[in-house]
Amino acid sequence: MSQRPFDSITGLGRGLSLRIPPHGLVRGAPLVCVFTMLTLMAGCIGAPESFRDEPLSGLEEQGLKIFHREPCYSACHVTTLAVPAANNPTGFVPDLRRTPRRTRDWYLAYFVDPRAVLPFTFMPSFAHLTGEDLDALIAFLQRLNRNVAVDKPEPVASNEIPGMPKNGAVYRAGKIVYSTYCLGCHGDSGNGGGTVGHLLSPEPRDFTDAAWMTKQSRNYLFSVITVGKPNTAMPGFKDILTPPQRAEVLRYIEYFADPVSRERVEVGVGGQGNEN
Ligand code: HEC
Repeated sequence: MSQRPFDSITGLGRGLSLRIPPHGLVRGAPLVCVFTMLTLMAGCIGAPESFRDEPLSGLEEQGLKIFHREPCYSACHVTTLAVPAANNPTGFVPDLRRTPRRTRDWYLAYFVDPRAVLPFTFMPSFAHLTGEDLDALIAFLQRLNRNVAVDKPEPVASNEIPGMPKNGAVYRAGKIVYSTYCLGCHGDSGNGGGTVGHLLSPEPRDFTDAAWMTKQSRNYLFSVITVGKPNTAMPGFKDILTPPQRAEVLRYIEYFADPVSRERVEVGVGGQGNEN
């Protein structure tokens, strides 16, 4: 008997990674639609080998049912006509087999308040699901992308961190990055009390904890912001933020542990132009 659990998800086979240039969108759209429909109707997209190796567990099977029942499947993820999320931070439907691996608590936070976790996502909230349903759905989604590699945050060489002076301009630039991408978890005051912070375990790092912050090297912190922290909900931002943006936001979070400098830079008298 052949085990092909994913064959039942039409279109979740080989990704249709069509890249449509913006100006070609209108002209190409009918063609793309017809092509997609034919492909789906023919059911000729086979599931990749990695999805056929093992039957779904009971919980994953349950998650697959919820995936079909809820609008996830019919409204958006029916095809993988999208580029992977990594290259696509601001929108469109990601190929769920290629999204970065996430912990259960990350998914929970994302389902309850999607935009607190990923600011530009089109995902609707699934907060109406029961805890049991959420668990099953998460197990299924974790099964889909379980072959995606996870990077460990190894301290980077100092010359890989773009130099950012401690001044008002860098502070303000870092604040914009922080407010957009970090605030939902780490909170306005940097203590981990963002909207979804309490849903996470461990909770987001408290940057106001000066004893902890001063013990960390910038080389490590920059690396965490780049690749994330394994086994926690802390995501990596290498595909979303440029190295200078990551250096700016690192400067910004450093100020949480140094309220005097923070206040000075806020009122415009801080800043010695120091690179390190
Ligand atoms: C989905 C929630 C979430 C988002 C969004 C998020 N973080 Fe985190 N962050 C966490 C969690 C959880 C930890 C791990 C805390 C722990 O291990 O105790 C963490 C830890 C950290 C750490 C410390 C690493 C360590 O060893 O604990 C840094 C630095 C950090 N985050 C920076 C950022 C920055 C900068 C952003 C925005 C660009 C950001 N985080 C966005 C949840 C988040």
